[in-house]
Amino acid sequence: MSKSSHSATGVDQARPIDQQKAHEFQAYGHMTRRPIALSETAARQSVDNLNQVLADTITLRDLYKKHHWQTAGPTFHQLHLLFDKHFEEQNELVDAIAERIQMLGGVTLAMAADIAEATIVPRPPKGREEVPVQVSRLLHAHEIILEEARSMARQASQSGDDGTNDLLVSDVVRGNEKQVWFLSEHVVDVPLVKAD
Ligand SMILES: [Fe+2]
Repeated sequence: MSKSSHSATGVDQARPIDQQKAHEFQAYGHMTRRPIALSETAARQSVDNLNQVLADTITLRDLYKKHHWQTAGPTFHQLHLLFDKHFEEQNELVDAIAERIQMLGGVTLAMAADIAEATIVPRPPKGREEVPVQVSRLLHAHEIILEEARSMARQASQSGDDGTNDLLVSDVVRGNEKQVWFLSEHVVDVPLVKAD
């Protein structure tokens, strides 16, 4: 059938085929086998652990943006910039963790409602909080992630998943430890103008 006869019969080849629906081809929680010389048990354990640290990292990332917008006081500009820098760094971690879940054959969590269900970082109020409270909230979230990431890194090492171990130690643990240093120095009570 020629193109002119298509238009003659009312078939529009240029029309986007939208509103298409089909079943998921890999359900959340199901693994697919990849040829990466890793047992399904080891890959599944890493995927489950990484989805937990992903949910908590997305929550911490978003907590940084909330504080970036809502902070106040004489250190506004400094904290506004620092919170955004840490947001960007956490965002890089989110992508690295999520992509590792997919490369292991798992399915990554992604959407806000699913993250809210999974995270163990306490939900903050919607309103604005004072700087020391903001910093304390962030430090608590960092410590939750550091504790779980170190434990998950040990599990990955024991199961032979060196790639996940490396991601957790080199990126998640080291990155969070450095951000904790930068943050925690803001709540050390030293004189600003006159020495004690
Ligand atoms: Fe901004």
